[in-house]
Amino acid sequence: MQEHQAATVGGRFEGVDLAALAQREGTPLHAYSANAIRGRIGELEAALAGLDATICYAVKANPNHAILQLMAAAGLGADVVSAGEMWRSLRAGIPAARIVFSGVGKSAHEIAEALAAGIARFNVESADELQLLQLLAAELDVVAHAAVRINPDVDAPTHAKIATGKSENKFGVDIDEARRWFAAREQLTHVRLDGLHVHIGSQILALEPFRLALQRVAAFWRELRDAGHAIASIDVGGGLGVRYREGERAVAAADYAAVVRAALAGFDGRLLLEPGRWLVAEAGVLLTRVLRVKEGAGRRFLVLDAAMNDLLRPSLYDAWHEIVPLVEGGRRMTRYDIVGPVCETGDTFARDRPLPECEAGDLVLIRTTGAYGASMASTYNSRPLAAEVLLDRGRYAVVRRRQTLEEMIAGEQPASHWETP
Ligand SMILES: Cc1ncc(COP(=O)(O)O)c(C=O)c1O
Repeated sequence: MQEHQAATVGGRFEGVDLAALAQREGTPLHAYSANAIRGRIGELEAALAGLDATICYAVKANPNHAILQLMAAAGLGADVVSAGEMWRSLRAGIPAARIVFSGVGKSAHEIAEALAAGIARFNVESADELQLLQLLAAELDVVAHAAVRINPDVDAPTHAKIATGKSENKFGVDIDEARRWFAAREQLTHVRLDGLHVHIGSQILALEPFRLALQRVAAFWRELRDAGHAIASIDVGGGLGVRYREGERAVAAADYAAVVRAALAGFDGRLLLEPGRWLVAEAGVLLTRVLRVKEGAGRRFLVLDAAMNDLLRPSLYDAWHEIVPLVEGGRRMTRYDIVGPVCETGDTFARDRPLPECEAGDLVLIRTTGAYGASMASTYNSRPLAAEVLLDRGRYAVVRRRQTLEEMIAGEQPASHWETP
């Protein structure tokens, strides 16, 4: 597999000097390598060569406008889970015909907006949603294309909070229920139920769970085909894992594609893929500065200017990220609990991590933050959203300005006008 992890060599990231970047744009700062993202897209496209396949980037991983524009320029579609993500995708130039809409809680308003936009497909997750889709499509006098999201009851080895393919999870319906939907599909005058969808979770490094889930979906597709139900598309979801720590290795696109090809051999409709993390995670770093070193009772704390509001994954999932001080060689090694300024003990990026000794003002890089980093950010503790930059061949562009305090409270107002008597 080619290495598309963003290279940070000698204090430079994609040819941009990180100290100068931090000086000019301030910290904390999310930085993404356009090249690394393009590399991943190319690798996946090459692995899918010869298949009728559309890659629908899972917008939730990183919805920044410039990232979506990059996906649009490469001809990718989008997997969206809200009207907001659909709006962003369309605005960035991703055509509605390449947008699929997933999620257990699509509101009537969101479904109507997606119907009006003419998106490619709804990945439907409950009988209630299917009826609502039929009703709203009939009102608009359009025909919605829909896929059933199958819950294949596969246990993917990942963090429990991002596993989605077990029967106890809220996602999708079991095959028995899907079978009933197809048996009754003639009653759906404004929904063409002709697709299958599956997504078993995120950050999956093993191929076996994908194989198992796709084999179950394929068996169901054959059963439907034999019963006379034409299936136009199978959406295999996302979930491909990436390298967060030494010893891990991102799923190789060729290996993954081989699993898809084998499991769905003979299927002559369109394949849809919804990778998010795999396309962008390793292309991103979070640049942050040491505020101070605090000697606690028995622990040394490295206090950074980035916090859980900038990168939630360690607090939410106990996720590991490589943390690299950008300091000259020769410093003694020590061990730190690496924390942010937010008033929560959970605002901890790493515990007892061996690092070269740091001092206030040193720059520190947190790696593999291109996915579910800025996208999960908040202004908790009234910390404005960090800036984001896109780097490309030695240049960089600010793709999100650092939020100002005024912007942070935009929309808030004094309770001077009471809406009810
Ligand atoms: C339906 C669906 N598709 C795709 C994805 C993207 O997953 P990943 O970023 O792991 O590829 C998700 C993530 O939660 C999802 O829920």
